[in-house]
Amino acid sequence: MANTTAFRASILHCLADPGSATDHNKTSAVEYIDDGLLIVERGLVRETGNAEALLGGLSEDIKVVDHRDKLIVPGMIDCHVHFPQVDIIASYGEQLLDWLNRYAYPAEQKFADAAHAADVADFFVDELLRNGTTTALVFATVHPQSVDAIFDKALRHNMRLTAGKVLMDRNCPEELRDDVKSGYQDSLELIRKWHGKGRLSYAISPRFAVTSSEGQLAEAGRLASEHSDVYVHTHLAENSDEVELIAKQFSWSRSYLDVYEHFGLLRERSVFAHCLHLDDQDRRSMADNGGAIAFCPTSNLFLGSGLFDLHSARKKDIRVGLGSDVGGGTSLNMLRTASEAYKVLHLQDQALPPFRAFYLATLGAARALYLDGKIGNFEPGKEADFVVLDSNSTSITSRRLSTSDDVAEKLFALIMLGDDRAVAATYLMGELAHSVG
Ligand code: GUN
Ligand code: FE
Repeated sequence: MANTTAFRASILHCLADPGSATDHNKTSAVEYIDDGLLIVERGLVRETGNAEALLGGLSEDIKVVDHRDKLIVPGMIDCHVHFPQVDIIASYGEQLLDWLNRYAYPAEQKFADAAHAADVADFFVDELLRNGTTTALVFATVHPQSVDAIFDKALRHNMRLTAGKVLMDRNCPEELRDDVKSGYQDSLELIRKWHGKGRLSYAISPRFAVTSSEGQLAEAGRLASEHSDVYVHTHLAENSDEVELIAKQFSWSRSYLDVYEHFGLLRERSVFAHCLHLDDQDRRSMADNGGAIAFCPTSNLFLGSGLFDLHSARKKDIRVGLGSDVGGGTSLNMLRTASEAYKVLHLQDQALPPFRAFYLATLGAARALYLDGKIGNFEPGKEADFVVLDSNSTSITSRRLSTSDDVAEKLFALIMLGDDRAVAATYLMGELAHSVG
């Protein structure tokens, strides 16, 4: 069958939240197949299983791609990233509010130029694929043409990607402001133009409550209620100066999350980056309303924001996925991001076992984005976005991984030591989208 291809390699994916599991033989949450076959038909997973058992039953004209010394995992998912900030990644010295003024806003002003936006979008998407990230929830800039640029590029790759125009009408440079009416209208036009095209979705994206007037937040909430299948994407309780500012700006509010909730912005498909300063009432609201958190460890460390309390989020069963938050974050690579997540939690005496770290970048992230019916693992019928990982990509990774036969131990070392060099190939719906060499 011309539309069918089989990929032979070791295969690892989550079937559920692995919790504290550290042995794939003792948990039904993780499936590991040492000599595995992933069969893809018309871009979707047809079947996974033991290669020797499946190969005999395959018709002879099905192509078998041999990745036998490597590991196939689901494409990784970045739940929060700013594509216009790739040019200011790793900028020295400031915490959030000064960092925005000194680095982020000047970089974003350049996106008034559509050619610049297209150039950065090209680089950004290629870089995601090179890092094994096949889905992302992306902030653009205030300019509609920045959204056109990122969607245009993602559509050409048939990538599953969600993005939106920043809404921002106060407390930022004049050149980056929209207004209540144009913010609503531009967002609506972008929804009509892009949402549901290919694998693209739109996200209504008030930057954070600091930079939106009450009128703008109310209009964003109206748009969100008119389009319940569209995402809401914003920042929440990242930095203590920011939280203090919010308490002054919205003196009527019980909490920062209460501001978003008041304006109808807390609902299913609402994704909040950071959430370092929540109380249990906020967590309960987040869980009850179906909101999700993007945990962005490299950013939280780099901007000196603080340590995310995953344990408390988990107790309330809140949806959580990992986010790179580049350019506040320091890597687009989700292995690097997961390794920093482990350390952030370790500092708080919280465990992040390897399968759960892996879950937060794959099935857990898909669940945070309400995409677990489509991506996140290799259940039959899901979109065949996957990554081929090479454990021999660096000499120290190779040496460390050769010391163990235990899957969890190898995965942990791969997460701690791995980066873009571990990504040998990236496939989108069964089609090669990036490969080394
Ligand atoms: N809060 C508001 N805007 C931003 C941003 O661009 N990056 C981060 N990390 N936090 C924000
Ligand atoms: Fe961010």
